[in-house]
Amino acid sequence: MVGPLMENIEKVLISEQEIQQRVAELGRQISADYEGLNPLLVCVLKGGYVFLADLTRALTICHSVDFMAVSSYGNATESSGVVRILKDLDTDISGKHVLLVEDIIDTGHTLAYLLENLRVRQPASLRVCTLLNKPSRREVDIPIDYVGFDIPNEFVIGYGLDYAENYRNLRFVGVLKPGAYRASK
Ligand code: PRP
Repeated sequence: MVGPLMENIEKVLISEQEIQQRVAELGRQISADYEGLNPLLVCVLKGGYVFLADLTRALTICHSVDFMAVSSYGNATESSGVVRILKDLDTDISGKHVLLVEDIIDTGHTLAYLLENLRVRQPASLRVCTLLNKPSRREVDIPIDYVGFDIPNEFVIGYGLDYAENYRNLRFVGVLKPGAYRASK
């Protein structure tokens, strides 16, 4: 993809200000819920890195972070339901309070796989925090403990979310122009 970053953006779905306000609220809520528990925030790469960076700084409690990298989409815009672990945790999570941090829950396949995979490692608790949730696309029913925003079924980019590895650095969540998909392939 070449050219200016904003060239193929159709609209802003969630503004920088709305995101920052919601992240601060989630930070307060999570800090209260996990007080004294020293939780481990597990960021699911790549998309989760921007949200984690802001969320972790919105917390007022002691906590640590670790990272997993998984792949479910490749470069396509539809989930295949196939999940591969590209990078596992550095930490042993048994007995720890684990909070999984995602950028988006779409079909739910990635999350279902991750929860199953982490649960057998016997954490003291296992919860999920996602910035974005697309309830209309859900194929696997899984409880989500903290949701930033429920969004409609649009292909979104920005604030960690990519199209063909671009646009993750946008400070807002936006929607690409319809022609941008084909033009960029
Ligand atoms: C996204 C997102 C979730 C998953 C959600 O990751 O970060 O992990 O898709 O989709 P699902 O609910 O349909 O399973 P993606 O595979 O795009 O990788 P990335 O985070 O590295 O961009």
